[in-house]
Amino acid sequence: MNGAQVGESGPLSSLPVRVLVVGSGAREHALVLALAQDPQVTALACAPGNAGTAAVAEQRGLDVRDGAAVVALARDWTADLVVIGPEIPLVAGVADAVRDAGFACFGPGAEAARIEGSKGFAKDVMAAAGVPTAASVIVDNPARLDDALAGFTPPYVVKDDGLAAGKGVVVSEDLDAARAHAMHLLDEGHPVLLEAYLDGPEASLFCLVDGTAVVPLLPAQDFKRVGDGDAGPNTGGMGAYAPLPWAGADLADELVRLVVQPVADEMAKRGTPFSGLLYAGLALTSNGPSVIEFNCRFGDPETQVVLALLRTPLAGVLHAVATGRLAELPPLEWSDGAAVTVVVAADGYPGTPRLGDVIAGGDGEGVLHAGTRRRDDGATVSAGGRVLSVVGTGADLAAARAEAYGRLEGVHLAGSHHRTDIGLRAEKGEITVPGR
Ligand code: AMP
Ligand code: GLY
Repeated sequence: MNGAQVGESGPLSSLPVRVLVVGSGAREHALVLALAQDPQVTALACAPGNAGTAAVAEQRGLDVRDGAAVVALARDWTADLVVIGPEIPLVAGVADAVRDAGFACFGPGAEAARIEGSKGFAKDVMAAAGVPTAASVIVDNPARLDDALAGFTPPYVVKDDGLAAGKGVVVSEDLDAARAHAMHLLDEGHPVLLEAYLDGPEASLFCLVDGTAVVPLLPAQDFKRVGDGDAGPNTGGMGAYAPLPWAGADLADELVRLVVQPVADEMAKRGTPFSGLLYAGLALTSNGPSVIEFNCRFGDPETQVVLALLRTPLAGVLHAVATGRLAELPPLEWSDGAAVTVVVAADGYPGTPRLGDVIAGGDGEGVLHAGTRRRDDGATVSAGGRVLSVVGTGADLAAARAEAYGRLEGVHLAGSHHRTDIGLRAEKGEITVPGR
């Protein structure tokens, strides 16, 4: 079957059957597991994948940044739908190459992916769309740094303008630490974004967007700092839970109206419509929701909890987005209850991780793989900073936490670390939105 025919043919009943997922993290493991449960999916591949995805999907080698290589694989494997997980290929234009070759593709083109690839661009879109976000200044000249910093009060927020895998941000009361981080980025030739501090709990809202229509998934919360109690440096994400028991049932709709639909409309107006997953990272402040960042893809680790609760078959959903038919999709169906995931990180992460340690218990229920690979002798070993993402579900957050942490006890990786407090404050009812 040829992917172009799927895109051009009739209604949603003509679902994709062969789905190629590009990427290799726990997000991609969650995607292939959800796709595998969709009765319409007859074949799955994940490239380059990891030891976990290889148990569910055919594994192919791939440089995900190489658009020609992704197209060649989609042709060779006769994919009906290509789903691109990570931001690096999206920002590099791989989705454009895949679509130009006639395949249905889930993920934005390079122009639209700039919403994540450049924080300055995202600020510009938000200003034009009237979307609330922290006041900010871009600095690209060290001589202007001190004047720019003087315009802010502590805590200082200093960000890399470009992609930094969640690790380009320093939030500090200490002006010297803020200045040092900014100088380090500038020395490496990266423009720096200085931003006003936002108070209030954070939420991640994933929205399906097909250029015009916007459909929110369940709101989730991510834990960015490496240590319990939000201590230590930022990471790519150490755990997540969904939904948010402390938020009103109308949060997702409010955020679509206030933030995501205006941004989708602005992108379309600019001639660069966004198609794929638009992820709004927000602070729910005393002055209302305010955007911290946009991502152009499913978030990791939030995807692991959001998809654990999604009951609607996933391939039809992603295909509807890829073919511009999101408005025809019936309302999404969700399981009651909650999901929690806890990331198991390698020794050294978020600095340089130690690799090659043997993982025991990695094939247990709810254990999703991130940085893992199968060694020639058959052992599963660590191959990245975030190694596993252990998921539990339950009737409520307490039950989901108990299942996730119970499952984690069956997993062993020398030198690994994880947070013990994922979802704990929410479970105890300690999270409140200021002013509410
Ligand atoms: P980002 O890479 O922009 O998502 O930032 C990573 C993390 O830094 C966020 O999840 C927040 O915890 C924190 N952060 C970023 N920007 C701000 C801000 N303006 N105010 C407070 N915290 C922030
Ligand atoms: N959970 C943070 C991210 O995916 O960027």
